[in-house]
Amino acid sequence: MSDASASNTAAPNAGANSGIANSAGAASAAAGTPKPRLTLRSGPTGDAVTETVWSQVGGTPTFEALVRNFYERVRVDPLLAPMYPDADWEGAIWRLRSFLEQYWGGPAEYSAQRGHPRLRMRHQPFPITPAARDRWLTHMYAALDSVELPPMHDAAIRDYVTRAAHALVNTPEGE
Ligand code: HEM
Repeated sequence: MSDASASNTAAPNAGANSGIANSAGAASAAAGTPKPRLTLRSGPTGDAVTETVWSQVGGTPTFEALVRNFYERVRVDPLLAPMYPDADWEGAIWRLRSFLEQYWGGPAEYSAQRGHPRLRMRHQPFPITPAARDRWLTHMYAALDSVELPPMHDAAIRDYVTRAAHALVNTPEGE
C-alpha cells in the first residue's frame, strides 16, 4: 500500500484485507497452523478473492464516470462552484478520481503526483461549513446513484465519503 494508507482517512480496503473474515481462521490458528490472511473465498474450497474494491467495481472507467457525474453537479451548485478553480475542472476531476481510486485499492497515481493526501490541510483554504458538506454529499450520493455499483460496494463508498466529509468541516455555519 502506498503513502496514502497513513493519511487521516486511511484506506481500510486494499487487496485481501477487505475486512471480510474467513471464519475458519480462528479454528486453524488454534490447531497450530499458520493463521490465514483475512480472505473472502469464492466457495468453501474456492480460490481466494484478492481483488480490490477498485477492480470489483470496474476500475478507472467507473471512478471516472462517478467523478465526472459528481463535478457536473458541483459546477452548477451556487455554494460550491465558486470554491473550485474555474479554469481547471479537468485537473480537479483528475485529483478526486485518482485519490478515490488509490483509496479503494487502485493505482497509487494520486500520491505519485501529489504526495501525501493530507486532506484536512488541502481543504483549509475552503470554507467548508456543514451546509457546504451537505451539498457536497448530496452531489456525491447522486453521482453514486448514477453509476449503480453493487450494493455492498455502494454502501462502503457512501459510508466512507460521509465520514470523510464530516471530518473536513472547518468553518462553523453562518461564516
Ligand atoms: C465536505 C465538502 C467538501 C468540499 C466543499 C470540498 C471542496 C474541495 C475543493 C474546493 C477542492 C479544490 C479543487 C481542486 O483543485 O482539486 C477540493 C479538492 C480535493 N478534495 Fe474536496 N471537498 C469536500 C470533501 C471532500 C471529500 C469528502 C473528499 C474525499 C473523500 C475530498 C477529496 C478531495 C481531493 C482528493 C482533492 C484534491 C486535493 C489536491 O490534491 O489538491 N473532498 N475539495
